[in-house]
Amino acid sequence: MNSIHDFRKGGPKITMLTCYDYWSARLLNDSPVDCILVGDSSAMVMHGYPDTISATTELIALHTRAVKLGAPDRFVIGDMPFLTFNGSLDRAMDCVLKLMQAGAQAVKLEGAHTELVRHLVRSGVPVMGHLGLTPQSVHALGGFKVQAKTEAAAQKLLEDALALQEAGCFALVLECVPTPVAENLTRSLEIPTIGIGAGPHCDGQVLVLQDMLGGQTHFKPRFVRQYADLAGTIKQAVHAFVEDVRQQAFPTLEESYK
Ligand code: KIV
Repeated sequence: MNSIHDFRKGGPKITMLTCYDYWSARLLNDSPVDCILVGDSSAMVMHGYPDTISATTELIALHTRAVKLGAPDRFVIGDMPFLTFNGSLDRAMDCVLKLMQAGAQAVKLEGAHTELVRHLVRSGVPVMGHLGLTPQSVHALGGFKVQAKTEAAAQKLLEDALALQEAGCFALVLECVPTPVAENLTRSLEIPTIGIGAGPHCDGQVLVLQDMLGGQTHFKPRFVRQYADLAGTIKQAVHAFVEDVRQQAFPTLEESYK
């Protein structure tokens, strides 16, 4: 997947993973995953903050640069951090400039900021929307909770999604909404939906890389499938290294310079 024109409905499901660093990006560049999101979840996963509010433009730009260097063949989307897109236009444009100059080919922003999306799209910036659970609004939402559970909320979600589509978004992340809501919304949109905790009917799926690799032992939401036990593998390897050094089994002469 090399451009927004490859984000289509009706074909193979779109696959997206988050990535924040050069090392993992190199691995993803050699994988079949379609695109990479440099998410503001980096604030939590890489920096230990309790939510995504602490992510800054500089932080996402730094991660984006590293990811693009590691994954030059992947479509990279940079996440616009909290309050960079709902204050002044100058601030939003400064953020977009920094993310795209760092290597992002598109930006993602949370919420139905249709005027800004329209302006960005007219300026040549591909925009991915993000509705449902928008983690930057965690305090306004009262926690990380499933959204659109009432008929009225589901209707509002649909209206927002249609408005974002009309404003020019090329795809939409749908986070933590009931499966029938995501299904109906996906059917109603011409642009593809990429779900996380939104059931199987979306046009694609996204997961946080460290979650799907089993790298986070303290955090396992219902919608995450762990495809590996990275935490277990790392623990085992570190134990083996410590044991080998203490037993003087590492390094051997073969592993040393003569
Ligand atoms: O920042 C992030 O990881 C995201 C995904 C959850 C979609 O926005």
